[in-house]
Amino acid sequence: MDSRLYTLHADITTLAVDAIVNAANQSLLGGGGVDGAIHRAAGPELLAACRRLGGCETGDAKITPGFRLPARYVIHTVGPVWHGGTHGEPELLASCYRRSLEIAAGEGLASIAFPCISTGVYGYPLELAATVAVDTVSDFVAAPSSIAEVIFACFSAGDLALYQRLLEARSG
Ligand code: APR
Repeated sequence: MDSRLYTLHADITTLAVDAIVNAANQSLLGGGGVDGAIHRAAGPELLAACRRLGGCETGDAKITPGFRLPARYVIHTVGPVWHGGTHGEPELLASCYRRSLEIAAGEGLASIAFPCISTGVYGYPLELAATVAVDTVSDFVAAPSSIAEVIFACFSAGDLALYQRLLEARSG
Protein backbone atom coordinates (compact mmCIF):
# COMPACT_ATOMS: atom_id res chain seq x y z
CA MET A 1 0.00 0.00 0.00
CA ASP A 2 1.52 3.34 -0.97
CA SER A 3 1.55 6.00 1.73
CA ARG A 4 0.18 9.41 0.81
CA LEU A 5 2.28 12.48 1.64
CA TYR A 6 0.58 15.84 1.37
CA THR A 7 0.45 19.37 2.73
CA LEU A 8 -2.35 21.26 4.41
CA HIS A 9 -2.55 24.93 5.37
CA ALA A 10 -3.80 24.15 8.85
CA ASP A 11 -3.62 24.70 12.57
CA ILE A 12 -2.35 21.23 13.52
CA THR A 13 -4.49 21.19 16.69
CA THR A 14 -7.62 20.95 14.50
CA LEU A 15 -6.59 17.79 12.63
CA ALA A 16 -8.51 14.58 13.41
CA VAL A 17 -5.64 12.22 12.62
CA ASP A 18 -4.21 9.32 14.63
CA ALA A 19 -1.26 11.43 15.82
CA ILE A 20 -0.08 15.01 15.60
CA VAL A 21 3.58 15.75 16.24
CA ASN A 22 4.53 18.46 18.70
CA ALA A 23 7.70 20.55 18.28
CA ALA A 24 8.55 20.48 21.96
CA ASN A 25 11.61 21.23 24.11
CA GLN A 26 13.63 18.79 26.20
CA SER A 27 11.56 19.40 29.34
CA LEU A 28 8.31 18.42 27.55
CA LEU A 29 6.61 20.87 29.92
CA GLY A 30 5.13 23.14 27.24
CA GLY A 31 6.22 26.38 25.65
CA GLY A 32 5.15 28.78 22.93
CA GLY A 33 4.53 28.21 19.23
CA VAL A 34 2.95 24.93 18.23
CA ASP A 35 3.86 23.46 21.65
CA GLY A 36 1.75 26.09 23.37
CA ALA A 37 -1.11 25.66 20.91
CA ILE A 38 -1.18 21.88 21.40
CA HIS A 39 -1.14 22.12 25.20
CA ARG A 40 -3.91 24.74 25.16
CA ALA A 41 -6.10 22.59 22.91
CA ALA A 42 -5.36 19.27 24.67
CA GLY A 43 -6.06 20.60 28.15
CA PRO A 44 -4.20 20.15 31.45
CA GLU A 45 -4.11 16.35 31.31
CA LEU A 46 -1.49 16.63 28.56
CA LEU A 47 0.95 18.45 30.85
CA ALA A 48 0.26 15.92 33.62
CA ALA A 49 1.04 13.07 31.18
CA CYS A 50 4.20 14.85 29.95
CA ARG A 51 5.45 15.30 33.52
CA ARG A 52 5.55 11.51 33.82
CA LEU A 53 7.75 11.15 30.72
CA GLY A 54 10.90 12.57 32.29
CA GLY A 55 11.84 14.81 29.38
CA CYS A 56 13.08 13.96 25.88
CA GLU A 57 16.47 14.18 24.15
CA THR A 58 16.91 16.29 21.02
CA GLY A 59 16.17 14.08 18.02
CA ASP A 60 14.09 11.65 20.05
CA ALA A 61 10.28 11.47 20.49
CA LYS A 62 7.73 10.27 23.07
CA ILE A 63 3.98 9.60 22.77
CA THR A 64 1.01 10.62 24.93
CA PRO A 65 -2.78 10.50 24.46
CA GLY A 66 -4.31 13.53 22.72
CA PHE A 67 -6.91 14.16 25.49
CA ARG A 68 -9.21 17.01 24.30
CA LEU A 69 -7.56 17.21 20.86
CA PRO A 70 -9.33 15.64 17.87
CA ALA A 71 -6.11 13.65 17.34
CA ARG A 72 -5.86 10.36 19.27
CA TYR A 73 -2.22 10.83 20.21
CA VAL A 74 0.46 13.51 20.45
CA ILE A 75 4.02 12.52 19.57
CA HIS A 76 6.37 15.00 21.24
CA THR A 77 9.70 15.45 19.53
CA VAL A 78 12.56 17.86 20.24
CA GLY A 79 14.13 19.48 17.23
CA PRO A 80 17.66 20.91 17.09
CA VAL A 81 18.32 24.60 17.62
CA TRP A 82 19.94 25.99 14.44
CA HIS A 83 23.62 26.89 15.02
CA GLY A 84 24.65 27.32 11.39
CA GLY A 85 24.30 23.72 10.21
CA THR A 86 27.64 22.21 11.24
CA HIS A 87 26.57 20.92 14.66
CA GLY A 88 24.63 17.86 13.57
CA GLU A 89 21.41 19.79 13.02
CA PRO A 90 20.37 17.99 9.80
CA GLU A 91 20.91 14.56 11.36
CA LEU A 92 19.05 15.52 14.54
CA LEU A 93 16.12 16.99 12.57
CA ALA A 94 15.92 13.86 10.39
CA SER A 95 15.89 11.81 13.60
CA CYS A 96 12.84 13.77 14.86
CA TYR A 97 10.85 12.73 11.79
CA ARG A 98 12.16 9.16 11.78
CA ARG A 99 11.62 8.52 15.52
CA SER A 100 8.10 10.04 15.37
CA LEU A 101 7.21 7.73 12.46
CA GLU A 102 8.78 4.71 14.20
CA ILE A 103 6.69 5.37 17.32
CA ALA A 104 3.52 5.90 15.27
CA ALA A 105 4.14 2.67 13.32
CA GLY A 106 4.91 0.88 16.59
CA GLU A 107 1.41 1.81 17.75
CA GLY A 108 -0.03 0.67 14.39
CA LEU A 109 -1.18 4.21 13.54
CA ALA A 110 -2.24 5.07 9.98
CA SER A 111 -2.24 8.88 9.87
CA ILE A 112 0.24 11.41 11.29
CA ALA A 113 0.62 15.18 10.90
CA PHE A 114 3.87 17.13 11.33
CA PRO A 115 4.43 20.83 11.93
CA CYS A 116 7.56 22.44 10.44
CA ILE A 117 9.80 21.29 13.28
CA SER A 118 12.59 23.67 14.43
CA THR A 119 11.71 26.40 11.90
CA GLY A 120 10.18 28.79 14.43
CA VAL A 121 11.85 29.63 17.74
CA TYR A 122 14.68 27.19 16.98
CA GLY A 123 15.63 29.15 13.87
CA TYR A 124 16.21 26.35 11.38
CA PRO A 125 16.05 27.80 7.83
CA LEU A 126 12.74 26.69 6.36
CA GLU A 127 13.89 25.35 2.98
CA LEU A 128 16.70 23.29 4.55
CA ALA A 129 14.32 21.92 7.20
CA ALA A 130 11.56 21.13 4.71
CA THR A 131 14.03 19.24 2.50
CA VAL A 132 15.14 17.12 5.48
CA ALA A 133 11.47 16.55 6.41
CA VAL A 134 10.30 15.45 2.95
CA ASP A 135 13.39 13.30 2.32
CA THR A 136 13.24 11.55 5.71
CA VAL A 137 9.49 10.89 5.54
CA SER A 138 9.76 9.67 1.94
CA ASP A 139 12.55 7.26 2.89
CA PHE A 140 10.54 5.93 5.85
CA VAL A 141 7.32 5.28 3.91
CA ALA A 142 9.28 3.47 1.16
CA ALA A 143 9.31 0.50 3.58
CA PRO A 144 6.10 -1.28 4.59
CA SER A 145 4.43 -0.04 7.80
CA SER A 146 1.00 0.90 9.16
CA ILE A 147 1.58 4.53 8.05
CA ALA A 148 -0.86 5.31 5.22
CA GLU A 149 -0.98 9.11 5.38
CA VAL A 150 1.58 11.77 6.35
CA ILE A 151 0.43 15.37 6.46
CA PHE A 152 2.74 18.38 6.57
CA ALA A 153 0.58 20.86 8.47
CA CYS A 154 1.87 24.29 7.42
CA PHE A 155 0.88 27.26 9.51
CA SER A 156 1.84 29.83 6.88
CA ALA A 157 1.09 30.04 3.16
CA GLY A 158 4.80 30.40 2.44
CA ASP A 159 5.59 27.13 4.23
CA LEU A 160 2.76 25.46 2.34
CA ALA A 161 4.00 26.60 -1.07
CA LEU A 162 7.51 25.37 -0.30
CA TYR A 163 6.36 21.91 0.85
CA GLN A 164 4.10 21.60 -2.20
CA ARG A 165 7.05 22.42 -4.47
CA LEU A 166 9.28 19.86 -2.74
CA LEU A 167 6.63 17.11 -2.87
CA GLU A 168 5.90 17.80 -6.57
CA ALA A 169 9.60 17.66 -7.34
CA ARG A 170 9.84 14.23 -5.71
CA SER A 171 6.76 12.81 -7.39
CA GLY A 172 8.15 13.88 -10.77
N1 APR B 1 -0.22 24.52 13.90
C1 APR B 1 0.76 24.20 13.02
N2 APR B 1 1.97 24.79 13.02
C2 APR B 1 2.17 25.76 13.94
C3 APR B 1 1.20 26.16 14.88
C4 APR B 1 -0.04 25.49 14.83
N3 APR B 1 -1.04 25.78 15.69
N4 APR B 1 1.73 27.15 15.65
C5 APR B 1 2.97 27.38 15.19
N5 APR B 1 3.24 26.55 14.15
C6 APR B 1 4.44 26.44 13.33
C7 APR B 1 5.34 27.65 13.29
O1 APR B 1 4.82 28.62 12.39
C8 APR B 1 6.61 27.00 12.76
O2 APR B 1 6.50 26.88 11.34
O3 APR B 1 5.25 25.43 13.90
C9 APR B 1 6.56 25.58 13.37
C10 APR B 1 7.56 25.33 14.50
O4 APR B 1 7.75 26.54 15.23
P1 APR B 1 7.83 26.52 16.85
O5 APR B 1 6.50 26.19 17.40
O6 APR B 1 8.48 27.81 17.25
O7 APR B 1 8.79 25.28 17.17
P2 APR B 1 10.39 25.15 17.09
O8 APR B 1 10.99 26.11 16.11
O9 APR B 1 10.63 23.69 16.89
O10 APR B 1 10.87 25.61 18.54
C11 APR B 1 10.54 24.77 19.62
O11 APR B 1 9.58 26.56 20.85
O12 APR B 1 7.44 26.63 21.63
C12 APR B 1 8.73 26.36 21.99
O13 APR B 1 8.52 24.69 23.70
C13 APR B 1 8.93 24.92 22.36
O14 APR B 1 11.12 25.32 23.21
C14 APR B 1 10.40 24.77 22.13
C15 APR B 1 10.63 25.61 20.88
